[in-house]
Amino acid sequence: MANLRTQVGIIGAGPAGLALAHLLHLQGIESVVLERHTREYVETRVRAGVLEQGTVDILCGSGVGERLKREGLQHEGVELRFDGKGHRIDFQELVGKSITVYAQQEVVKDLIAARLGYGVPIYFEAEAIRIEDYQDNPKIYYLRDSQNHEIACDFIAGCDGFHGICRPAVPEGQLQIHERHYPFAWLGILAHVPPASHELIYTYHERGFSLLSMRSPEVSRLYLQCVPDEDIEKWPDDRIWEELRTRMATREGFVLKDGPIFQKGITPMRSFVATPMQFGKLFLLGDAAHIVPPTGAKGLNLAVADVRVLTRGLVEFYKHRNRELLSQFTERCLRRVWKCQRFSWWMTSMLHRFPQEDSFSHNIHHAELDYVTSSRAASTSLAENYVGLPFDTPGLF
Ligand code: FAD
Ligand code: PHB
Repeated sequence: MANLRTQVGIIGAGPAGLALAHLLHLQGIESVVLERHTREYVETRVRAGVLEQGTVDILCGSGVGERLKREGLQHEGVELRFDGKGHRIDFQELVGKSITVYAQQEVVKDLIAARLGYGVPIYFEAEAIRIEDYQDNPKIYYLRDSQNHEIACDFIAGCDGFHGICRPAVPEGQLQIHERHYPFAWLGILAHVPPASHELIYTYHERGFSLLSMRSPEVSRLYLQCVPDEDIEKWPDDRIWEELRTRMATREGFVLKDGPIFQKGITPMRSFVATPMQFGKLFLLGDAAHIVPPTGAKGLNLAVADVRVLTRGLVEFYKHRNRELLSQFTERCLRRVWKCQRFSWWMTSMLHRFPQEDSFSHNIHHAELDYVTSSRAASTSLAENYVGLPFDTPGLF
């Protein structure tokens, strides 16, 4: 058993763990990152694509935004489509901000490259098995190269996603869970074909929701609402393209060209919040503490917002021995978490077709879409939330 000591033991090399390690390093705070998968696995895992302006500002402001600035696609609006007609929500005009389409795995690559560049510890294929004594003298036990290791730390950052070990390490009675399950999922694809629109299109259709997004001028990312236990084998490429065309069709004859699909997957939909997010010297960040359905494109952004709050608290602690901000971690994070939960739940409810929807619900859906696209006040509210609500405090963190 080899032993290590660090200031902050970070479990998970997703966006939350990597961004935290990076910001702490810039402040002279030591950390060790443990990741159970290989570097290649985390750098190629296909997930989010939309970055809020605040997330972009943090990445660029902390020196890891060079490729993001070069390759990210800046969007000044999105389209909501229903009844065969598109309606643009103009972010720039309504709230003076924009979003950037840049894949999560690219953010992950940039953060890993930065960490390896300054030569501080990040261990891949290192699986945290358990954590102990997080109220007083936190310890992380992990397995690497079939050997047991231990890290003693001042604090543990549980950035280990929804299926990690940190949240389950908290005794059940001490956690409050708030959740919603949705009676549908998303079937997502990546295809080698130029995006049929230069901005995202969210479509409500009687056959279900669909979304057109992209990764580059040559690669399209598309999603279709499906049943939660959908069998992907039942979706050959032709059927996917046909269904997308049906749902996205417009009266003006929208053309969706197909192309070779090189990745397919099913994403479940869930809203989930575990409170509190802090237990003594253990903090839960990102998907370890909360999950949003992807319709609002908030998950990664929310993980980065948690990181910002914890970084500030840790800087206050190490520089001034002041624990006040750390003790407010849950409260400060949850203000944003619940607003993003509300927005993601609302977008999901407005844009998906629910099973056994009757004519009343169907008409309400239409009224909501009509309202949000025709009222400046309602469009502004959507735009303000989509580009990312302002942070409570100015600056990088
Ligand atoms: P994760 O990315 O899950 O990282 C956790 C890491 O911890 C993983 O690498 C895991 O391997 C590791 N780990 C787990 N257990 C252990 C252990 N015991 N020991 C060591 N390591 C461990 N969000 C957006 O903001 N915008 C979008 O457009 C968007 N679209 C999405 C589309 C899809 C299809 C999906 C699935 C998600 C989308 N999201 C989006 C959500 C976003 O991907 C997540 O919210 C984000 O990955 C959360 O980051 P995280 O670091 O908290 O967790
Ligand atoms: C994506 O590009 O993967 C994406 C975009 C918008 C969403 C969800 C996912 O709401």
